[in-house]
Amino acid sequence: MRILVLGSGAREHAIILALRAEGAGHELFAAPGNAGIAADATLVADLDQNDPAAVTAYANEARIDLVIIGPEAPLVAGVADALRGRGIPVFGPGRAAAQLEGSKAFAKRVMEAAGVPTGRATRARTRAEVEAALDAYGAPHVVKADGLAAGKGVIVTSDRDAALAHAETYLSGGGVLVEEFLSGPEVSLFFVSDGDTVRALSPAQDFKRAYDDDQGPNTGGMGAYSPLPWLAGAFGGEDEFVAEVTRTIAEPVIRQLDAEGTPFIGLLYAGLVLTEHGIKVIEFNARFGDPETQVVLARLVTPLSRLLLSAAGGHLEDEPAPAFAEAAAVTVVLASEGYPEAPVTGRVIDGLDAAASVDGVHLAHAATAEQDGALVATGGRVLNVVALGNTFFEARERAYRALGEISLEGSHHRTDIAARVARD
Ligand code: AMP
Ligand code: GLY
Repeated sequence: MRILVLGSGAREHAIILALRAEGAGHELFAAPGNAGIAADATLVADLDQNDPAAVTAYANEARIDLVIIGPEAPLVAGVADALRGRGIPVFGPGRAAAQLEGSKAFAKRVMEAAGVPTGRATRARTRAEVEAALDAYGAPHVVKADGLAAGKGVIVTSDRDAALAHAETYLSGGGVLVEEFLSGPEVSLFFVSDGDTVRALSPAQDFKRAYDDDQGPNTGGMGAYSPLPWLAGAFGGEDEFVAEVTRTIAEPVIRQLDAEGTPFIGLLYAGLVLTEHGIKVIEFNARFGDPETQVVLARLVTPLSRLLLSAAGGHLEDEPAPAFAEAAAVTVVLASEGYPEAPVTGRVIDGLDAAASVDGVHLAHAATAEQDGALVATGGRVLNVVALGNTFFEARERAYRALGEISLEGSHHRTDIAARVARD
């Protein structure tokens, strides 16, 4: 197949590596991609991934059989609608269904209509409304911008003044949501959907805070692991957990969106908290998660292209449940100095060949470019080391050994990714 992947992060690199790993001889194209992706796909120069007309024209000309949309911005820009309108198979929801991620208020309304368990939330447009809601729910406080904010729109804090200050930076932009704090372990669970049928992938856990022991600011994600062995204790096993989330969360939401005339064809990302009172949704995303995709797809045995093409074509019900390797997968993000607040870019990265030669390790590039024959960092999250092992202990040891081979001045990474499951 000729497949075009939109996006430029480690998630997109992981998607491309999974397509390559099928060994089916796909011809892969990426826009805009990055220096790492360039080794595994043809980069399409000058194609604006957020321009529906341009992407559609290119897909037509290049006889693309399937477009996979990585990030949220092209979804919200209506790229999937334009492609679908021209009959080009695309994995990614249209603008209306992508509001599930683009607007937290929309997501809350859909969940309420579908009877999906989530925390209580109040929309606030003034300082007084924010204060009233903060006091009604009590600490810890959760305040979210109501729109796409690249993982930076959320604050979780016990400091009421900090919560209020955060809210004020977003009030002029249309308001914020003040939420009830949900306490418990978090799980990211991905569902491939054709608008009607869903197929769950294997669960993962993401590490959102910048520093070890979940300290520091929220980020796009600093590492992840999959599967989650501890689900066995609470639910009997991964299959039981996945079945419950499918029944109580994914299927009702997909049915609701279909009933509203905005079917969701793409990746439904359920961000879940396992509270004392059951599984609740913290957020939905309308795309693969980053960095969870790097560990989930590393374990996927079913050909990814078949799954996504079936979803794009509306015949996912013909697909059996996706199969996953038992292996433990761990990914650690290497971040630039100053990430997430003010990443320093343009510095040279070294040691990638040595890192990639560690057993069971591969690299997924997030923000890299070639400059005068050297590889330089071009953003906050620079690359992911992804390691597979027979155990989490082995996968972790490999990931951190590989990371030790890489040099990037001032860079930082978490040292505790999957530490708890490696000990258990
Ligand atoms: P979000 O962008 O909505 O995924 O939020 C980012 C992170 O903030 C989540 O992964 C949680 O760790 C945390 N968070 C968001 N909402 C809540 C909540 N209602 N209760 C507890 N933690 C939350
Ligand atoms: N890892 C969180 C996200 O992709 O939104």
